[in-house]
Order: sequence, then C-alpha cells, then structure tokens
Amino acid sequence: MKIKGFLQDVTGASRVTKARLGAFEAASAVPEATDPIADVVAQWHPKKFGVTVTAVRDASPTAKTIRFVRTDKEKLPFFYAGQFVVLDFKIGESVISRPYSISSAPFEAREDNGFFEITVRRSKGDGFIADYMNDSLKVGDTLTAMMGCGQFYYEPLRDAKHVVALAGGAGITPFASMAKEIAHGTLGCDLTILYGSVSADDIILKDELDALQSDKVHVVHVLSGDAPDWQGERGFLSAELIKKYAAPDTTYFICGPQAMYLYLQKELQKLGAPKRRIRFEVFGQAKDITQFNGYPQELKDKTFNLTVRRGIHEDVIPAKATESLVVALERAGIRIETACRSGACGFCRTKVLSGSVYICPENDGRRAADKDFGYVHACAAYPTSDLTIKIPIA
Ligand code: FES
Repeated sequence: MKIKGFLQDVTGASRVTKARLGAFEAASAVPEATDPIADVVAQWHPKKFGVTVTAVRDASPTAKTIRFVRTDKEKLPFFYAGQFVVLDFKIGESVISRPYSISSAPFEAREDNGFFEITVRRSKGDGFIADYMNDSLKVGDTLTAMMGCGQFYYEPLRDAKHVVALAGGAGITPFASMAKEIAHGTLGCDLTILYGSVSADDIILKDELDALQSDKVHVVHVLSGDAPDWQGERGFLSAELIKKYAAPDTTYFICGPQAMYLYLQKELQKLGAPKRRIRFEVFGQAKDITQFNGYPQELKDKTFNLTVRRGIHEDVIPAKATESLVVALERAGIRIETACRSGACGFCRTKVLSGSVYICPENDGRRAADKDFGYVHACAAYPTSDLTIKIPIA
C-alpha cells in the first residue's frame, strides 16, 4: 500500500510539472499589468481605510457601542474575534491613534453590509478621546481605521478547548466578540466569562451577553461594590472564584485595567496555571508606570530633554520620566505611527541613539535583535536620562 501510494505521488508530481510547463509556454511574454496576489492582499489587509459611523447605542449607563462600515463600501478586512482596530482622530493639526477591541463578531463583518462595532466607556477624567466618542461622535462622522490587529484571539493549535475569560470594565469587549462568534458556530471553544464590575450599572453589554448564554458560553457577573439585592457572585476575581469555573486544562484570557492584570497574574500563579495557558491584552499604555517592577522611583518627578531626529529634521522636546516616548512626541505634535500602544506590535519601533530608557517589563514585545541593536517600542519606553532617538517619518 505504501509503495503504491508513493508511486502515485511521484506520477502525480510529474503530471503537475507537465501542466505547469504547459501553462508557462501558453502564457503571454508581456508581464501582467497588475499583481493579482497583491490585489487580494490589499483587499484582505488594506493598510488604512475610511470608516463611517452608522449607529450609536447605549451599552450601559456609562458606555456606548458605535457601529462602523467602510466609507468606500468595500468589504471589511478579515479579523479574529478578540483583535482590535486602530482609529485615527484628527485633533487640531495632530493625528492621534487609539486602539479599540472590536466588540462585534467577525461573521458580522463578512456578511453583506458588513460592519464592526466598538464599545467605549466614558473615562474617569483621564481620557478625552473616550469622552469624545461617548459625547460627540455621531452617525455620519468619518474616521480612518486599520484592522485586525493583535494576538489576543483563540488559536485551537495553541489554546485549550476550555477558555476562562477574566474581564474587568471595558475589558469585556473582546470576549463579547468571541461569545458571538461561538454562538454563530464559527469559533470552536467553550467560553466561561468571569466579568468583574463594581456595581450592576457598570456592567457593559449586559443584555447582549446574557442573550448569548448557552452550553458553550457561560457569563458570570461578579460585583465588588455594595449591592444589597445582588444574587450572583461577589468580591474580586480571586483564585478561589476562578478555580470554581476552570476545567483541568484551561486557557486564561485576561483583559482589563492595569491593576486587575497585575492582581490576576498573582491569583493565577496560586492556581499553578502555566504561563503558556495565560494570554492577556493590556489596553493601551500602562496607566501608572511607577507601579511596575524595577521602575527607578527616584526619577519619577524628572523631565528630560528628548532630541528627535526624523529625516533631516531635529527637534528637542521635553519628556517626563513617567510618560512614554510616544506621549512626549504626541504632546509636541510629532507624528509617530502607533497601533497597540502597549508594546506588542512594533509600529512605534524607534532607534535610541544615545541616553537610556526604562522599558515596561510587561509590555516589552521587542525581538531579540532589536534589543541588541538599541531599538525600543516608543509606547513602552520611558526616559531615564536626556535622550536622542531616531523615528521614521510618518
Ligand atoms: S504601538 Fe504597538 S508597539 Fe508601540
């Protein structure tokens, strides 16, 4: 049997070779005017494209879900449930980019009149773009988008079949996308979402999540604040609570504020969860870099001189020790490409010519060669001396 199969392979290969040679001989000597492969790639992964707001609805008393379609009516690019979109906002003369996890499902983008949605919570005073999205963005407005970005998605070859999602606040959004895709039958894992909120009013997308409950999608709301009438789970997403819902082999997906992520790392250690079974998405830059291991506390009130070279231009701008290089550049109106803003994607890759930086250890997504040759991801690098950097012209 094996010999017969081998001979079939060999004779099959010679038939294919003959067919290929025939195709070469029949082909025109004049090169194709367009590259069909490049056309397909551009269609599936366009670099940036315009999007128009087609609907805005409440997702909770403090959050809105915003629906977008492509302005040019082309199909949206492919993305996985859990990935994020980068939106560009023009503020005065500057363009500022922000990443948002997609809260709708990939299948909804593939349908006719395909769309994607993001769900944005009003800030607690420190996010003017989140407030702009909640208060001012309206149907008909247009933005520029890039998608799908990030590694925060279920991969059956890597992840366990049972997934426990640990969500806090607006960190529920990628799991809403996963839950919808599972309910649609196009994502093959079981998902238990442990969703921590302070009060019932803080729960985002509650009705949509509850409607998705099934034998494959289980949503557990956990309240940490005073809630006298609450019948469900209470407290924080502790090791004890997680253990109650985990299977013997579970992959944990974490998405939420920085403090929750730091806390959950310790709780999962108590359960002996191996690192390869923990995946996390940190929303944007670290809120308070001084909380991370190894941060030089003695420098936290300092401001350094940052010399920025782009092409033939050179500027010297101030850079606070507690703000990333990206923030210093944006404050000075210098454009740098960003996507994840959490050190993972490399869009803001920057060469350090002189001086030193602190790199947030949780957000150091650099390749080994970049570390050797003095490159940093500017969204995860904080000045610890006067500094000279070279950035690409955006
Ligand atoms: S924007 Fe992704 S690494 Fe900086």
